[in-house]
Parts: sequence; C-alpha cells; structure tokens
Amino acid sequence: MDCGKMFLFIFLLLYDRISADIATGLTIHDILPEDPKKYDKMRPPKKDGQPTKVYFHVTVMGLDSIDEGSMTYAADIFFAQTWKDHRLRLPENMTSEYRLLEVDWLKNMWRPDSFFKNAKSVTFQTMTIPNHYMWLYKDKTILYMVKLTLRLSCAMNFMIYPHDTQECKLQMESLSHTTDDMIFQWDPDVPLVVDENIELPQLALVHNHTADCTQVYSTGNFTCLEVVFELKRRLGYYLFHTYIPTCLIVIMSWVSFWIKPEAAPARVTLGVTSLLTLSTQHAKSQASLPPVSYLKAVDAFMSVCTIFVFMALMEYCLVNIVLGDSDLPKPPQPAKKPDSIFDMAAKENSFLLTGAPKIPVVTPAQRARNRAINIDRFSRIFFPLLFTVLNGTYWIMFAEYI
Ligand SMILES: *[C@@H]1O[C@H](CO)[C@@H](O)[C@H](O)[C@H]1NC(C)=O
Ligand SMILES: *[C@@H]1O[C@H](CO)[C@@H](O)[C@H](O)[C@H]1NC(C)=O
Ligand SMILES: *[C@@H]1O[C@H](CO)[C@@H](O)[C@H](O)[C@H]1NC(C)=O
Repeated sequence: MDCGKMFLFIFLLLYDRISADIATGLTIHDILPEDPKKYDKMRPPKKDGQPTKVYFHVTVMGLDSIDEGSMTYAADIFFAQTWKDHRLRLPENMTSEYRLLEVDWLKNMWRPDSFFKNAKSVTFQTMTIPNHYMWLYKDKTILYMVKLTLRLSCAMNFMIYPHDTQECKLQMESLSHTTDDMIFQWDPDVPLVVDENIELPQLALVHNHTADCTQVYSTGNFTCLEVVFELKRRLGYYLFHTYIPTCLIVIMSWVSFWIKPEAAPARVTLGVTSLLTLSTQHAKSQASLPPVSYLKAVDAFMSVCTIFVFMALMEYCLVNIVLGDSDLPKPPQPAKKPDSIFDMAAKENSFLLTGAPKIPVVTPAQRARNRAINIDRFSRIFFPLLFTVLNGTYWIMFAEYI
C-alpha cells in the first residue's frame, strides 16, 4: 500500500516536469537558426561587416585586502556583457520585454571571449545556485551577467610612501578577437557603479573612472576596457604610529644636553636607548611593505631622525673629550713650606693695601668644564632649531600629497 502511494507520487512528480516542459517548450533550437549550418558559434555576428559591439557594465560591490607585499587587491563585482546577435530567432509569442534563458546554452552560441587581464585568480560562486544569468531581449540582444570575486594585481610605487596614491585597475580584454571582429564599449547609460560604502583600513577610494586600454600586439589590435580606482593612503595611522613617536624620541635625546657633563652613564644611556628605539620604529614603519630598493619618504624622515639622535650622542663624545683633559692626574703639589701661610697672608695684605681686584683663580679643569658646558648650551639651541627647519621642509614638500 505504502509502495503504491510512493509510485503514484513519483509518477505525479515526473508528469509535472514533463508537462511543464511541454508548456514552456523552449529549447536552444528554438533560438538558433533552423539550419544549423547557418550558425557558426565561432564567428561573431558581424552585421554589415561591422565589428560586433559588446557593451560592458561593472558594479563594484566591494574592494578589500589591498596587499602591498604582493601588490594585489581583491574586488567583488557584477559584470554584465550585452551584445546583439541578429542571427538568433526569437521564441514565438514573446510578450515580455526579456526572457530568462538557460546559461548552458551559451556553449552553443557565440559569446564574447573577455578575460580579466590583470587577474591572478577569479572565483565564481555557486551558492546557492551558480551566480550568473542570461537574458534575451525582444531585439535579439543578449545580456550575460555574472558575479565574481577577483584577486587583481596592481603595480604600486612607494616612492612617497606613506603620502602615496595608488592607481589600481581592473582590465578586461578580448582573448581571440581583434578589433576587426569585436569591440568592447562601456554601457552608454550606466557604465560603472561603485558602492559608496566601501571602507578600506589604510586607504581611501578617492576617485574611480572607466577607460579604454585597447592594446596593439603583433597579431593585431585587441579591444580592452578598464576600471581605474584611485586609492589614497590615509595619513592618520602613520601620524600617530610613526611620525609623532619618532619626533618624541628625537626630542628625548636632547635631554642629554641638560644633564651635567660628568654624568657619563646617564647621557650615554639616553643616547643609545634613543637610537635603539628609533631603529625599532623604523622597522615597524614598513612592516607591511616589500623591501624596495629606492628611498621612500618615510625612510628619509627616519634617517634624518636617526642622524639627529646619533649626533646628540656624538655631541656628548665631544663634550667628554673637552672635559677629559682636566681629569689627567695632577702633578704632585710641592711640599708646603712651613712659612707658606705667612706668604699667603702677605699676599692678601698687599691686595688689600693696593686695592687691586681679587682675580678669581681659574684652574684648567674649570676652564675645560666651562668649554664643555658651552658646547652643551650651543646644542640646546642648535639641535631643536635645525630639527624644526628640517621637519618643516619635509612637511612643506609633502603638503600637496596630504
Ligand atoms: C502563439 O501565437 C500564435 C499566433 O500568433 C497562437 O496561435 C498560439 O496559440 C500562441 N501560442 C502561445 C503558447 O501563446
Ligand atoms: C565613482 O565615480 C563616480 C563618478 O565619477 C562618482 O559619482 C562616485 O561617487 C564615485 N564613487 C566612489 C566610491 O568614489
Ligand atoms: C591598430 O591600432 C593602431 C593605432 O591605435 C592603428 O594605427 C592600426 O592601424 C591598428 N591596426 C589594425 C589592424 O587595426
């Protein structure tokens, strides 16, 4: 009994499918010309000998994973191609504006052979159903729309990093048709839509536009279209994690000029610690970058700061040399004569009597110390002044890129 019910159920199910097919009744052969010899799917539909025009539309839903190390980025796009194939037949009694067709039929029809020129990998999603569709319009225009996730290469230049603006492209070229057979064109109405809410951690999408990148090869001219994204690096991160801490370290190294010259351990430690901290900062500032062979803006800044800290350390070296002369063992004092006390008293009296001013006795050690302190005093003004000038020059130079 149960078994019978099941058979009935399956029969009903099959009958339903078959009757549905009969009702819609559209197969690929209803669209292709009756004489299959007339239709060559390898030949583009060149009406009146003109190259077939294929219109492109791209909707960018997301940009992410911009990787400076591998110079790639990822994009999520809807990619639509529209072309007119006059050789096709329209299904009978087509009342609606367009009709959904099975995407598999594209295998038996001519279709544009576009490919993503700068893609490293393309992911086509199949959940919950394969993410593409095909429409046939009343005027024999075919629309093929597909959703893709692309990993694209983007040549980046880090000459003025982190004040740089990168131009990343999405290029679509024809694989086998020259411009004599097929040309790509941007949709005249809406060529490109970029989601307004795209958020990137370090870069900001400042501009987007479409362009033509038709290329001349030895085999002929191949049609190509491109989308260009201009991505500008946000300075905020680098300001708070690189520039301000680095300036503070340089300023910290100047504290040494206010410590008395005899305090060698304090001043040397300060200088060396600043130097080490700075080199850590420098390494951190380009952790995400490939090791490029040219000098970047941030490198120039960091190098100048390192030189400043190094010079502060060298300044102490100089101070120490100047001071060091006085530390020589003093020649042994001649044994005081017992009557020396009287000599001194006599001297004192003569000063008092003649009224001559008392000349302060300056030992060579004191003179050396004064010279050392003068070097420190000079450095207290000179280092901050020079650093301000250089810092100002740097920021004025890169002001136009901020
Ligand atoms: C299609 O149109 C023809 C006449 O033009 C008509 O005889 C036929 O019944 C129509 N078929 C459908 C499925 O509407
Ligand atoms: C992309 O470009 C168009 C036209 O130039 C502009 O209206 C749109 O705001 C841009 N989108 C983004 C995310 O910058
Ligand atoms: C290819 O393009 C160049 C210039 O863009 C043009 O001079 C040349 O005639 C073209 N060649 C063909 C085969 O169309």
